[in-house]
Amino acid sequence: MSYQCPLCQLPLVCFPHFWRCENRHQFDRAKEGYVNLLPVQHKRSKQPGDSAEMMQARRSFLDAGHYHPLQQEICRLLNAHLPGAAPQVLDIGCGEGYYTQAVASKLQQQGEATVYGLDVAKVAVRYGAKRYHNVEFCVASSHRLPFSDCQFDAVLRVYAPCKATELARVIKPGGWLLTVTPGPRHLIQFKALIYQDVQLHDDTPEQMPGFTMNHSQILSYSMNLSPDESAALLQMTPFAWRARPEVWGILATSEAFFCETDFTLRLWQRD
Ligand SMILES: C[S@@+](CC[C@H](N)C(=O)[O-])C[C@H]1O[C@@H](n2cnc3c(N)ncnc32)[C@H](O)[C@@H]1O
Ligand SMILES: [Zn+2]
Repeated sequence: MSYQCPLCQLPLVCFPHFWRCENRHQFDRAKEGYVNLLPVQHKRSKQPGDSAEMMQARRSFLDAGHYHPLQQEICRLLNAHLPGAAPQVLDIGCGEGYYTQAVASKLQQQGEATVYGLDVAKVAVRYGAKRYHNVEFCVASSHRLPFSDCQFDAVLRVYAPCKATELARVIKPGGWLLTVTPGPRHLIQFKALIYQDVQLHDDTPEQMPGFTMNHSQILSYSMNLSPDESAALLQMTPFAWRARPEVWGILATSEAFFCETDFTLRLWQRD
């Protein structure tokens, strides 16, 4: 387990209740086990990242198992590409750790593996650290990763912001970046409730300097959601704030809301 000081970039040394660098910058370990490496001066707002409501909605939706196929495919891809000996993996924008802990469990079945979960939202990290003890959680921004150069064999990024130069810095040459982004028809039935003119999601691969795209695949399937599940799913998406009260009403009274998922998974290799 190792971190870099977010203030001076020296290595942080682990003590029982805190982490500290040689310049005596100190970061406490929370009682749930995570470390907050986001100094106030690096915060863009008082409570950056997803809110507690979004987090709770996400946890209750994910607990219902509708994204289990995606979770399993992420584990399969990482497991197939990682070296056997003690890999180090980072999940950026990990939320409450649904994918992070599954990856950790999968890799730790084969031997030693260290899996980190990072999110800018403290509430998400606290939720994750309380529930999952096989992951090292920290609060930090994906725009300034508190890790040393070439530390990781792989980074996972599921629907989360990133900075390509930071990813290129922390991933070893030949290491992997796995991205999950919405495919063209992802949650199109929600969009049809909200927008007059429904546009397919633009699935053009993003620019990822320092990486070569090695593999791209689609995972799509449909879901039948209960009123509680469809409301939780809408709540955790960016469409939520555009949804008029009638939309929430339709979801509350539809016994089973039919909705498509469409995920694009891409594996990028560090040059
Ligand atoms: C759409 S959620 C995805 C969460 C998780 N990967 C999942 O799919 O369940 C995006 C996550 O990115 C986090 N986030 C937003 N900006 C971030 C940043 N600059 N650095 C790290 N995390 C960030 C949010 O707090 C949120 O948890
Ligand atoms: Zn320092």
